[in-house]
Amino acid sequence: MNSLTHGIGILGLGSALPEKVLTNFDLEKMVDTSDEWIIKRTGISERRILERETPAYVLGVEAAKKAIDDAGLKPEEIDLIIVTTSCPDYLSPSISCIIQKEIKAKNSAAFDLNAACSGFIYGLTTAQQFISTGYYKNVLVVACEGLSKIVDWEDRNTCILFGDGAGAVVLGAVEKEYGIIDTELGADGSMGHFITIPCCHLSNEDKEKRLHENKMVLWMDGTEVFKFAVNIMAQAVEKVLEKCNITLDDVQLIIPHQANIRIIDGASKKMGILFEKVYSNVHKYGNISSASIPVALEEAWKSGRISKGDNIVLVGFGGGLTWASALVKWNR
Ligand code: ACO
Repeated sequence: MNSLTHGIGILGLGSALPEKVLTNFDLEKMVDTSDEWIIKRTGISERRILERETPAYVLGVEAAKKAIDDAGLKPEEIDLIIVTTSCPDYLSPSISCIIQKEIKAKNSAAFDLNAACSGFIYGLTTAQQFISTGYYKNVLVVACEGLSKIVDWEDRNTCILFGDGAGAVVLGAVEKEYGIIDTELGADGSMGHFITIPCCHLSNEDKEKRLHENKMVLWMDGTEVFKFAVNIMAQAVEKVLEKCNITLDDVQLIIPHQANIRIIDGASKKMGILFEKVYSNVHKYGNISSASIPVALEEAWKSGRISKGDNIVLVGFGGGLTWASALVKWNR
């Protein structure tokens, strides 16, 4: 909780998804799987995929421009750009610097942040800290993910799960007692080996785990991640509500990381909440890592699921392993 004369909240939102749709039926032709298996085990029907030669940052640029426009600001009024990503097109320049150039936010600082699928809430929290100290006024957080580029398209255990996309928000001053009320961040590096994406180093263990020639791909122990996810999502929601001194009865909507409908369902049961209180679009986009929460948030808002004054809980988990939750009192 802060003692400022104003709240810190979302001034504008934007998202971008590739046009190309990859259905479960398309995947049936690529690996030994079936539409029935994928729907039953994950809830995913299709996902959006970038053309091979298109970099993921183009999605981040589009989402960022929409969010700035929605906030009624000019790019020059952005003080800081934080890009959350687990698969940057480049390590240098950072994706935030590329986006800064493309949107002409010439007065902003820029850096990338990697907390995998929890990245967006880590990004929100970081932005909130900069604004609450008065260091910056308007911070752009862009969750930008091109997972299709680091997926092994011959590995049926993982390739059915992921998609590409970007979601962005501009954060700044809003009415007092609205906006981000509090957040909760966590990490347990001792479980990091359950999801790995090598970058500049490949250990023998990494090589052995990967099936095919291309070793610079995502590998995951799905069962371990599944168990972790169900428990940690429920705990992370409980913790942030405790911090804010409210209960689930006071919450209008939960927007979880969209990894697997069974994970969302399992966590909802653990929390004892009705599925109607939980937003999901995993069937359309699959897992788009840190972009999944802002894309779902914008969709929920635009479709009328959120009204001013609603208490919304965002909750995510992912590689690291990491987790994060936020309580947002909707200010728009
Ligand atoms: N099609 C058909 N069969 C398959 C497929 C497939 N695509 N994938 C696996 N199988 C088979 C397995 O080989 C196994 O066969 P076997 O019994 O003969 O060995 C069987 O199906 C069951 O496999 P499980 O792995 O036990 O299936 P499960 O029900 O656990 O579902 C899944 C697997 C979907 C990966 C699930 O474990 C999951 O969603 N885990 C969480 C993943 C996740 O959310 N990660 C998010 C973080 S990612 C990040 O941060 C970037």
